[in-house]
Amino acid sequence: METKVAVIRDLQKDYLYIKEAAEVIKEGGVVAFPTETVYGLGADALNEEAVKKIFKAKGRPQDNPLIIHVSSKNIEDLVEEIPKLAKDLMTEFWPGPLTLIFNKKSIVPDVTSANLNTIGIRMPDNEIALRLIKESGKPIAAPSANISGKPSPTDVERCVEDLNGRVNYILGGEKSNIGVESTILDITCEPPCILRPGGITLEMLRSFHKDIYIDPVIMNKVEGEFKPKAPGMKYRHYAPKAKVTIVQGEVKKMVEKIDEIVHNYIDAGLKVGIMATDETRVLYTKGVVISLGSREDLNTVTQSLFETLRSFDDKGVDVIISESFKEKGLGIAIMNRLKKAAGYDIINVE
Ligand code: TXA
Ligand code: MG
Repeated sequence: METKVAVIRDLQKDYLYIKEAAEVIKEGGVVAFPTETVYGLGADALNEEAVKKIFKAKGRPQDNPLIIHVSSKNIEDLVEEIPKLAKDLMTEFWPGPLTLIFNKKSIVPDVTSANLNTIGIRMPDNEIALRLIKESGKPIAAPSANISGKPSPTDVERCVEDLNGRVNYILGGEKSNIGVESTILDITCEPPCILRPGGITLEMLRSFHKDIYIDPVIMNKVEGEFKPKAPGMKYRHYAPKAKVTIVQGEVKKMVEKIDEIVHNYIDAGLKVGIMATDETRVLYTKGVVISLGSREDLNTVTQSLFETLRSFDDKGVDVIISESFKEKGLGIAIMNRLKKAAGYDIINVE
C-alpha cells in the first residue's frame, strides 16, 4: 500500500493535509495522526471494514478494544447514558488525556469494542486531531500508532518507521507532549476503577470521587491467569528489543546498584543502556547513559519514556537497566509502562 506522509507545520497553510486525511477517513481508510498523549492510528469508528484495517496494520489481537476519539462532548449517539460523574470529568478534563468507559449503543460495531458492551471515549487535546475528527464528520477509533507490542510513537518519524506501507496516510504534527497514553477510567462500575494510569492522575480523579482505585493487577506481576479489566494491559507491551531490568529503591543505593550491574554486564561483553535522570546521569561510570528527564518534573520523564526505549534499540544495546520512580502522581503511569517494558524484572535494593 502506498502511504502519503504529510507534516503540518502551520495549521492554516497546511490545512489541505487535514482535509485530505479526513477524506481518507470518510472513504474507510486508515490515518495516523498526532495527539497530546501518543500518535494514534485512526479509522471511522462506526465502519466495521475500516476498523478491521487498523487491527491488520498494527498486528493487533482482535480481543483488544479501541478507544473512540471525538471532537465534542456530545456523545449521546454513542453511549447509553452519561452519568453525572462523567459529565463532571468531561467538563474538567476534556479535551485531555482521560478516556472514559461507557455502556455503548449498538451503533458502535462489535469489532470496535472487541465484543464488549462498553466503549472507551476520549477527546484529545491536539488541534490537528480535533480538526481531523471534525472535518471527517466521524468519531475516530484509534489505538496507538505502533506495531503491536512496541513502545507507542510520540513523533511522526516513529510512525513512519512502524507504519509506512501499511496505512493510507500519516499526518504529522508536533511531538506528543504527554508521551504516555491516556488514563482509562471505567465509570460503569462502582466505585469507578482506573484501568490504565496516565496523564490524569489518581489524585486528580479522587477529588471527584474519593473511592476511585487502580485495578490492582496492572501494577504488579500476577501469578496464574492474568486478567486485567482493560484487555490490552495483559499483552507484553512497550517492549524494546533489548531486555529491560528495573532497579528499585532509594536513589543513592539504586544508582550504586545499577553501576555495579552495568560493570558486570560490560565485563561479560554486553552493550548496556542506562535509563537515568537529570539528577543522576553524571554518577554512572560506564554504559550508554540517557536521561529520561528530571525527577522534579515527571512530565519531562513521561514525554521521553517511549522515545528513550526506542532509541536504545537504535543504539543496539543488549540490555537496558532503568531507574525507578515513586508510585504517586505521574510516577504511577511511568512505573506501569516501565514494569511492562521490563516484563516485571525488578531488583530491589532496600
Ligand atoms: O492516549 C491514548 O489513549 C492513545 C491515543 C492514540 O489516543 N490511544 C491508545 O489506544 O492508547 P490503545 O489501543 O493503544 O489502548 C487502548 C486501551 C487498551 O488497553 C484496551 O484494552 C483498553 O484501552 N480499552 C479500550 N476499550 C475498553 C473497554 N471498553 N473496556 C476496557 N478496556 C478498554
Ligand atoms: Mg497501544
